[in-house]
Amino acid sequence: MGHLFGLGCLLILIGMVDVEAQNPPLTIGKKCLGNVMRIDVGPLGGKNLEVAAVMNNTAVILTSSLASQCGFSMKRDQLGNAMIFASLQNCFAQNLADEMFTTTLHLRVSGPFLLKDEIYQVVETCQYSTWASREVICDNNYMEVSLKRAVPEDYHHPKHAMPLTGSKPANARRSAEKVPMDAGFRITTVVFFTPEGEKVMTVNDAHKKGYWVGNSPTRLVQRVPSAAPEIFTHNVAGVPMRVFKTSTIFEKTWLATQIDAAAACPLQEGSVFFTRSTITWYLPRHIDPMITSQQFTLLEVHFGINGQRMDAGEMQANKYSLALTDHYIVTEIPIGAAGGYFKSHVQANLYYISYVIEPMLELLWSEDSVLELTKYKVYFTIATNVLPHPPQLVDNTVPADRMFKMALGHFALDVVLLNITFGSEVLSVTDCMARGFNIMEHLSHNDTMRVYSLQVPFTDPAVSKLAGEGVIVYSLHLTFGLLVLDTLAPFSHAAYLEAVLEDMISPSVSGGCDQRNFFILVKYGTKGFSFQTTVGKRLMTPSLAQHYNYMENGTHFSFVVPFLSSDAVVEAIESSSIRSRLNVILVNPQTNEHLKDFSMACNFPSTLTECFPNGTMTALAVKLESVPSLDPSGLTLRDHSCGPVYSDERYAYFVFTVNSCGTTRKFLPDGMLYENEIALPDDHQMKPATDSEEAHYDLKVTCLYDINTSHAVAFHTRPRRSEPYAENSEGQLHVVMRLSLDDSYSNFQMLEDFPIAKYLQQPLYFEVELKRSTNPQVSLELENCWATQEDDKTSQPRWNLIINGCPNPVDPYQVIFHPVWADERVRYPPHFKRFEVQMFAFADEKDDLVGQLFVHCDVVICDAKNPLGGVCSRQCPNPDAGMRGQKRDIVDVADFEHVSLGPIAFLQ
Ligand SMILES: *[C@@H]1O[C@H](CO)[C@@H](O)[C@H](O)[C@H]1NC(C)=O
Ligand SMILES: *[C@@H]1O[C@H](CO)[C@@H](O)[C@H](O)[C@H]1NC(C)=O
Ligand SMILES: *[C@@H]1O[C@H](CO)[C@@H](O)[C@H](O)[C@H]1NC(C)=O
Ligand SMILES: *[C@@H]1O[C@H](CO)[C@@H](O)[C@H](O)[C@H]1NC(C)=O
Ligand SMILES: *[C@@H]1O[C@H](CO)[C@@H](O)[C@H](O)[C@H]1NC(C)=O
Ligand SMILES: *[C@@H]1O[C@H](CO)[C@@H](O)[C@H](O)[C@H]1NC(C)=O
Repeated sequence: MGHLFGLGCLLILIGMVDVEAQNPPLTIGKKCLGNVMRIDVGPLGGKNLEVAAVMNNTAVILTSSLASQCGFSMKRDQLGNAMIFASLQNCFAQNLADEMFTTTLHLRVSGPFLLKDEIYQVVETCQYSTWASREVICDNNYMEVSLKRAVPEDYHHPKHAMPLTGSKPANARRSAEKVPMDAGFRITTVVFFTPEGEKVMTVNDAHKKGYWVGNSPTRLVQRVPSAAPEIFTHNVAGVPMRVFKTSTIFEKTWLATQIDAAAACPLQEGSVFFTRSTITWYLPRHIDPMITSQQFTLLEVHFGINGQRMDAGEMQANKYSLALTDHYIVTEIPIGAAGGYFKSHVQANLYYISYVIEPMLELLWSEDSVLELTKYKVYFTIATNVLPHPPQLVDNTVPADRMFKMALGHFALDVVLLNITFGSEVLSVTDCMARGFNIMEHLSHNDTMRVYSLQVPFTDPAVSKLAGEGVIVYSLHLTFGLLVLDTLAPFSHAAYLEAVLEDMISPSVSGGCDQRNFFILVKYGTKGFSFQTTVGKRLMTPSLAQHYNYMENGTHFSFVVPFLSSDAVVEAIESSSIRSRLNVILVNPQTNEHLKDFSMACNFPSTLTECFPNGTMTALAVKLESVPSLDPSGLTLRDHSCGPVYSDERYAYFVFTVNSCGTTRKFLPDGMLYENEIALPDDHQMKPATDSEEAHYDLKVTCLYDINTSHAVAFHTRPRRSEPYAENSEGQLHVVMRLSLDDSYSNFQMLEDFPIAKYLQQPLYFEVELKRSTNPQVSLELENCWATQEDDKTSQPRWNLIINGCPNPVDPYQVIFHPVWADERVRYPPHFKRFEVQMFAFADEKDDLVGQLFVHCDVVICDAKNPLGGVCSRQCPNPDAGMRGQKRDIVDVADFEHVSLGPIAFLQ
């Protein structure tokens, strides 16, 4: 009696996956199904269910042997829904006149996740009065025959005369009218007929052996467990059937009578055939062991599932079919039809399923007369072969959605997904949900199977990315960890997904420069990118493309833009180059969005200024990006009357000579530098600009004439607000002024002699020398010399000694120039100038003579090869003033150089 009724202990670790917690409350349903009642209990999940029958307030646990003896069966599907079937005539039923049957059950639900056992009492009363004279129930664990307790009228034998052997029970039932057996008869003996012979048992012995023989007010009930030894197998029309046959002996004081019973129930083997999609069940329509008469009529056939009849409409909807052939009742059931369920099996990590369904057939036939009716009911459990059912992963990924979408199935409902392994990372279903993988369960195949769906975003670290030619390949390796609930068998399914997404590469721009041009190369992006090209501020039109030597080869196009093109902007003009920038923008024509902003600036060697040997300078002023509103035609040189000889909206072109237009000169160690500035005249009168204003245009134009040769040099530009412009150093060391002790110009005052004291009117002999130059063509000229009281040459008062190379005409003691001859000290006489001044002193307001004076000279270097005019070629008006040798036909470049000497104190 060890086994519990129905199902053994089913401990399911489903709690791990939180199914237990979500279990809906237990529901209990009750149904009367003819001579059987059904109690539905569920869902139980992994919980145990123990059933006890109650009689006289005593609960008796239904073990499996007691259940088959007493007319109970129970089954449980893979989801833990239980069905308890009970014959109305079960051992514990309260029977009211064979019309009302009440059964009371106690259901005890227990399990590891319940704090304490739950007990439910179920009482069900079924009314059933349409008993046929014989009713047979074939259940999985028992066979039951219920007979109307009647005997032929003349069939009461004296007790001792009853033939126990030799007489065929079938003959006995052949006689005409039967009469109910009166209540005085008691069952004494049961005789089992087997192929090996008869077995005679007392009722008590029979009960002890697990049989049931019982009386009700009008009926005899016999029940035999399916595995009973007295059951034998008999082939009926090719279908093997379990058969039992008995005679039950009733006795009454002097009389004995007997009732013969027989039942035959089909075995699955030999009566059920499978294809991949269909189950075919053959039940003999003429079940010989139960039929003795030739007058056999099959009156009704009913099909049902789980003990419940179905009408034709329901059968059709579920694609069940029932057909009668000469010998069989043929039932066809599609595998997977609702009403059955799939069951999982795992072997060597491979997944298999079988389909289980519990169809029912009910037959009603008559023999001899309509009163001799048999109701025959078969509960049949059909389980198909176990078939491999490898899980299928359906890849529903739409790459544009940027996530893998997949569905894995189909699994029987007894499978749960436990975890998913990504590489070395194992995530539980809960982890997956937390990570946004959105795992969902779906039912399929008319709710008999389950599919898991899952989404993994491309951005998840579990997804690998590989960039290829214009595409990105996303891939995902994953392994699903699954578990079959009732056997706790784990298995896994590995999958690999790949999705290719067009890599939206936008077009790109690159470029380079040579001495004169920008070279632009545009690489097309992937197909999705259509774009327009803007060069500077202009759209690249076919004509502009032609202008810029546009070339295209399918993957790239290129064009060439000269650096002074109006599509380029000039950022700066530097000493020997122009810094010019080209902006190229790729624009999405639909959205006007900039796909690429490309900008390239290069320094282009500049020839915008030219210095000609004849002293002509030309300068091209180019509008700068920082001065967008500039009108180049308004630009002038320092002398505002010198405007451009040509101008347009971007350029102004100046031509002038180095001795005009306010050009200044500087003496440098290696040459002479001429400078002028190009600016707007207004700017010079304005205050310094504030930061918010546009920068002022101020272009410094310079020419450096080599002492030997002359060459053009440079442009400088600076916004007015920038740091003060660093002046070139003056070459003071290269021109020296000395004071000679006498007119022999052979001995000189030493620097440490100063201040020197002289008497008024005493002559002072000055010499000015250009040092370092070895060029005999160059001469040093004195432009202006003057005396001041302070050592600052600009201080007042001041007295002019030499003006524009000539003695100050208003000076009463005019300067005397002394010629210079070559000697051992003087190698190139033109590099020297000597003049004589009589010592004088300044007088203050009170006519007091002030103690000292300083002498300053502006010196000009003239080049005989480059006649320039000015002081270099000037002749002083009065030849008597000592301008011998001052006259020159060709003179060139000069620069102001300044020398000072002093202090010279006067002695009174
Ligand atoms: C139940 O009670 C009835 C009458 O009270 C009695 O006849 C019957 O034997 C009892 N059954 C059991 C199983 O005790
Ligand atoms: C589900 O049942 C319907 C009707 O019963 C049937 O037509 C259909 O084929 C079934 N689907 C599957 C997947 O079995
Ligand atoms: C994942 O699931 C598989 C299959 O059920 C199981 O064998 C394994 O132990 C699980 N792994 C983890 C880490 O939970
Ligand atoms: C097009 O020109 C570019 C730049 O010169 C070059 O890199 C590319 O290979 C060329 N493509 C084809 C298809 O010739
Ligand atoms: C100076 O020389 C240049 C170049 O030879 C010439 O174009 C220009 O006319 C000359 N200027 C004068 C004033 O002779
Ligand atoms: C000028 O010419 C002389 C002679 O040709 C040469 O020695 C000297 O280096 C030159 N000076 C410069 C500054 O080039």
